[in-house]
Amino acid sequence: MKKHRDTSIVQITDANIEEYAREMTTPESEGVKALIASSDAELEYIDMLSGNLVGQMLKMLIKISGAKRILEIGTFTGYSAIMMAEALPDEGEIITLEMNLRYQKLACKHFREFDHQNKIKLLEGNARELIPELKGEFDFIFIDADKLSYESYFKQALPLLKQGGLMVVDNVLWDGTVLDPEDQKAQALHEFNKMVSQDSRVEQVLLPVRDGVTIIRKK
Ligand SMILES: C[S@@+](CC[C@H](N)C(=O)[O-])C[C@H]1O[C@@H](n2cnc3c(N)ncnc32)[C@H](O)[C@@H]1O
Repeated sequence: MKKHRDTSIVQITDANIEEYAREMTTPESEGVKALIASSDAELEYIDMLSGNLVGQMLKMLIKISGAKRILEIGTFTGYSAIMMAEALPDEGEIITLEMNLRYQKLACKHFREFDHQNKIKLLEGNARELIPELKGEFDFIFIDADKLSYESYFKQALPLLKQGGLMVVDNVLWDGTVLDPEDQKAQALHEFNKMVSQDSRVEQVLLPVRDGVTIIRKK
């Protein structure tokens, strides 16, 4: 696995169980597999993709909740946006935010190559500046951008989430380092997890899936 931190993602779950879970989970579509292969060939940071366990969880939650309008914070090469688009009905919409020019280009290329591209709209820029400009309510929000800004994304995005809507947040265990934070990102994620757990506007479950995923429901 290629790296995006000093080391590869530490598996929270036993490695054999993680592999077994992946094997027994619905695989990605052929289109998404091709996207992973081309992202892998072009970039070193392939493990920024949220991966099939999280991707299938997003798809399940979207289908079960009947979400139609989705906000994604952190597009990268478009993996999770495309996974979510596959779960949306034809009239569904995903607005995805990305500030890195290279990733914007790659994501747009992947969206063009993809059957459901009409459902995905990429907004280019810093999410912290773009979120306050967004109009209308969202049924579902996926947070997966800069870990130091999770608290701001949550505070900015929660008012845009409809009552009963879901917010999914990736990497909340950060290799398990949130238990004893020694760097800024681990500390920020620990503070974020504490903040969510004390916010009476929401209920949430933190799942030790891959690098940790929290599912938050707005009451
Ligand atoms: C972990 S990757 C997203 C992976 C993607 N959700 C997936 O599963 O395929 C995080 C992305 O967030 C972007 N990002 C970080 N901070 C951002 C910000 N403030 N505004 C917009 N994009 C940001 C990074 O450039 C990177 O592409």
